Amino acid sequence: MSAAGPIAVTGATGYVGSRVARRLADAGVPQRLLVRDAARAPQLDGAEVVTIPDLAAEDAVRDALRGASTLFLVPAHEAPDRVDGHAATIRAAVAAGVGRIVYLSFVGAREDATFTLVRDHWATEELVRRAGLAWTFVRMNLYTDFLTAMAGQDGVLRGPAGHGRFTPVVRDDVAAACAAVLTGSGHDGRAYDIVGPERLTMDDVAATIARVTGRSVVFQDETDEEARASRAHYGAPEWELRAWISTYVAIRDGSLDLASPDFATLVGRPATSLAEHLAAD
Ligand SMILES: NC(=O)c1ccc[n+]([C@@H]2O[C@H](COP(=O)([O-])OP(=O)(O)OC[C@H]3O[C@@H](n4cnc5c(N)ncnc54)[C@H](OP(=O)(O)O)[C@@H]3O)[C@@H](O)[C@H]2O)c1
Repeated sequence: MSAAGPIAVTGATGYVGSRVARRLADAGVPQRLLVRDAARAPQLDGAEVVTIPDLAAEDAVRDALRGASTLFLVPAHEAPDRVDGHAATIRAAVAAGVGRIVYLSFVGAREDATFTLVRDHWATEELVRRAGLAWTFVRMNLYTDFLTAMAGQDGVLRGPAGHGRFTPVVRDDVAAACAAVLTGSGHDGRAYDIVGPERLTMDDVAATIARVTGRSVVFQDETDEEARASRAHYGAPEWELRAWISTYVAIRDGSLDLASPDFATLVGRPATSLAEHLAAD
């Protein structure tokens, strides 16, 4: 590995990756952005841009990672074969001599996680742990930013979440925590839970959106069967439908109800609340 080599950043055309890259540039940290479309890469001082066809393109990713000290791996878009792409990238990092992987994972990463997409994060963590490099996992919760859009045109937030609580986190806070890990030291072998400051029910979410935006929003609890029926018109594949519904079931069963001091410890301020996020929008 090249200890002085740049930090390689994937997902830099996306929300979290681009904001992490901006923070690294502001801190004067050399970086290499691995993107699928160079025209959409952020233009940043100290950042070189390398095009890769996909995270699954192992040889191209290996060549793109040569000389990098750290790989910051943003998970790929959800897909049935997502972990295969992550596995290829992790093998590429080992072959390229990268010294450390910082993976953007998800709270409660377990093989049998209720929220089915979290199982991909568990599988990726396992691959990273076995790769023999230094690692850090920054585990996000559900994005606060997406809650408003979860309410339909009719202002109804519907799903089988019951009265369960969860601690959603603002995406920009996730980026701040990742940047703190990437620019700091002492994080090897650590997993951080990056969560919001409030344990909210979906009733709380609806009431807060209504209060802050003035929009009429209510939460309607569903059974799992009702959730399947109300989403049938999207025509989504079975894996995606299960993932959507399991988001709510994971709130109902408490899987996403994690409080943690990790964000404040890493970033030095409290995480952003839903009301603060909505007011700033
Ligand atoms: N916590 C949550 O609630 C939540 C919600 C949704 C998603 N996520 C996960 O969190 C990740 C980061 O969030 P975000 O908001 O930054 O997402 P985003 O804005 O959609 O950005 C995703 C980034 O990953 C890149 N990417 C996706 N699949 C790829 C692949 N197969 N090969 C190479 N690059 C790929 C995208 O590149 P292109 O621009 O080329 O597509 C983009 O730069 C997402 O990718 C997803 O896995 C979390």
